[in-house]
Amino acid sequence: MGLDEIGPLRERALSLIRAAKDLAALEAVRVEWLGRKAGRITALLKSIPTVAADERARFGQAVNELKSAVADHLAARLAALEAAVPRGPMADVTMPGHRPPLGRLHPITRATREMVEIFGRLGFEVVEGLEVEDEWHNFVGLNIPPEHPARDPLDNYYLKDRVLLRTQTSTVQVRVMENRKPPVRIIAPGRVYRPDTVDASHSNMFHQLEGLWVEQGVTFADLKGILAMFARAFFGPQVRTRFQPSYFPFTEPSAEMYVSCLLCGGDGCPACKRKGWMEILGCGMVDPNVFEAVGYDPQEVTGFAFGMGIDRQAMLKYAIHDIRLFFENDVRFLRQF
Ligand code: DAH
Repeated sequence: MGLDEIGPLRERALSLIRAAKDLAALEAVRVEWLGRKAGRITALLKSIPTVAADERARFGQAVNELKSAVADHLAARLAALEAAVPRGPMADVTMPGHRPPLGRLHPITRATREMVEIFGRLGFEVVEGLEVEDEWHNFVGLNIPPEHPARDPLDNYYLKDRVLLRTQTSTVQVRVMENRKPPVRIIAPGRVYRPDTVDASHSNMFHQLEGLWVEQGVTFADLKGILAMFARAFFGPQVRTRFQPSYFPFTEPSAEMYVSCLLCGGDGCPACKRKGWMEILGCGMVDPNVFEAVGYDPQEVTGFAFGMGIDRQAMLKYAIHDIRLFFENDVRFLRQF
């Protein structure tokens, strides 16, 4: 290879580099010319020692210049091709982001919180009891005698002798009064358990909210006023209330409170069995026997108590026809609240 051939070689190499359309083509050019094993310039470099002595220096210099010219152009073309590699469209920073899936409150939780909020405004404090109870708190302290049908083992989930899953949140009345001096103004939301046959209106686990206000001079008028106020706040200002005498072992006198039918407004429809009224809770003045059981003096204080099914109120309020929907965890149902 003579010195005069170096110039055309250089032109050839540079025009191949310019013509390389992508990174792969450019890499092929690099291998052809500068590849360690069979590169054309590599071969020229290796041949330098074989060149005649008087030409060797100039030949060597020319080959080395060729090598760096080709290397420089390769590097420049590489940078240009890399800069041109498509990187996809520019991100649209105005697009909405990915929303993380958000859960929502269970309708029972919603109803409970709303009740707690309403009674909170009326000065009631939230207290928690126990779901596993003893007979004393579930029955005896509440003036429910041993022969009372509610104590039938078939109507209760007994875990062992004298220990059962509570059937009512009224147990919390006893727990609170045992541990505190009056005045007491509490509500107690929570789960209760009964071995009922499950159907559209019965579940063997459901929720109740208990209330108790004990103080000097509390009267049945306070009971009516507080509960009527609750009904209007929870169901709406148009709702009317009615009290009807009833019986509970732990209250005397006792009553059931009705609200005007939420569907027909009181005219009578299938939902209220054409009566125009729906029963929503039991209530009454705390029986003196209950005060004595917890060490309160019935001559000193009076009080009223009430208990309502949270599930039932939520069904009325949200027009849900089957209590089982609350507990099946079907998101198509839960998503609606
Ligand atoms: N514990 C009763 C039940 O489960 C409801 C109830 C009625 C609670 C009257 C009360 C009350 O506090 O005074 O059916």
